[in-house]
Amino acid sequence: MTTGLTQSDNRHQDTNGKTIPARDVENLKKEIKKLVKERNAVILTHIYQRLEVQDIADHVGDSLALSRFAAKTDADIIVFCGVHFMAETAKLLNPGKTVLLPDLQSGCPMADMISVDDLRAFKAEHKDVPVVCYVNSSADVKAESDSCCTSTNAVQVVESFEEKEIIFVPDKGLGVWVQEQLPDKKLHIYDGFCPTHYQITPKDVFTMRNKYPDAVVVAHPECDPDVWRLADFVGSTSQIYKFVSNHLKQQFIILSEQGLVARMQRDMSHKTIVTTFPLPLCPNMKYHKLESVLNALVNDVNKIEIKPEVFSKAARTITRMFNITESNSFKNNNLWEGPKRQEVIASK
Ligand code: 13P
Ligand code: SF4
Repeated sequence: MTTGLTQSDNRHQDTNGKTIPARDVENLKKEIKKLVKERNAVILTHIYQRLEVQDIADHVGDSLALSRFAAKTDADIIVFCGVHFMAETAKLLNPGKTVLLPDLQSGCPMADMISVDDLRAFKAEHKDVPVVCYVNSSADVKAESDSCCTSTNAVQVVESFEEKEIIFVPDKGLGVWVQEQLPDKKLHIYDGFCPTHYQITPKDVFTMRNKYPDAVVVAHPECDPDVWRLADFVGSTSQIYKFVSNHLKQQFIILSEQGLVARMQRDMSHKTIVTTFPLPLCPNMKYHKLESVLNALVNDVNKIEIKPEVFSKAARTITRMFNITESNSFKNNNLWEGPKRQEVIASK
């Protein structure tokens, strides 16, 4: 698909990719806002989403912050503008609520790289070794795992296990990152990866460093280890946002997805924030548009359902992650509630 997005351009598009006039965009936002209120809904939006979809969100954040919001919301309907596994996580935390994914095409290719049969075969190679799965995985894979983690808390979750050996699935970029932070552990890492972050090469980083010699280089751990090893700082999307906003330097090269870069460019317009070429863009994150959000709210379409036989087991891996991160100093030091909500909608 073409998203029409460039480094500096975030035009509003309808579901056919046609540019929507600004006046219609404001009307769409107003209509969405009205329905959210009428239906006691909440819109949760990942920071890789289009900016206009971030603008209508009640909460914008990374996958950990959004699952925390999902766990405590008292809304009846959760409209999840992220990829499928994120909406599944919200449903696992809210069995009685309606969770809607505005565009069902929003899958995650990395999550699709491991099936439950693949995981069982991998477990058979490493008998009696506990499994930590990245939240970027299906409910079926979560149900076969011992704990889940996000890129914000992966090190703490793996460290919390008494066992020395841990199976880590599916992301090898993050897995190698965790292994390097915890040299006393022995991780068996699955061969999955994020096609968007793996698109960034060491050569791209050298090119940008030559162009911006004073810039601080910041990478997401989903990048190829040969790429994040070239960075000055490695962190999840929330940690990247926080690091850049708190840093005294003015120039940053971001090795992560375009939506995060666009959001930081807007929120921190006094800084120079760039990324590599071609633009690291996750097409799956760009499917949701204002029209599809409105359609979901009007017609209750694309409800997330989870097979009853895996529900409680999958939910348990998420609860275990929360128990680990709530029970140590991590809670106070590293949690990020997402950038402040943008009140862009004038009407009630
Ligand atoms: P975080 O939001 O946890 O940094 O992960 C990013 C991601 O993989 C979204 O696909
Ligand atoms: Fe999946 Fe990568 Fe897209 Fe995140 S950025 S949704 S990991 S493909």
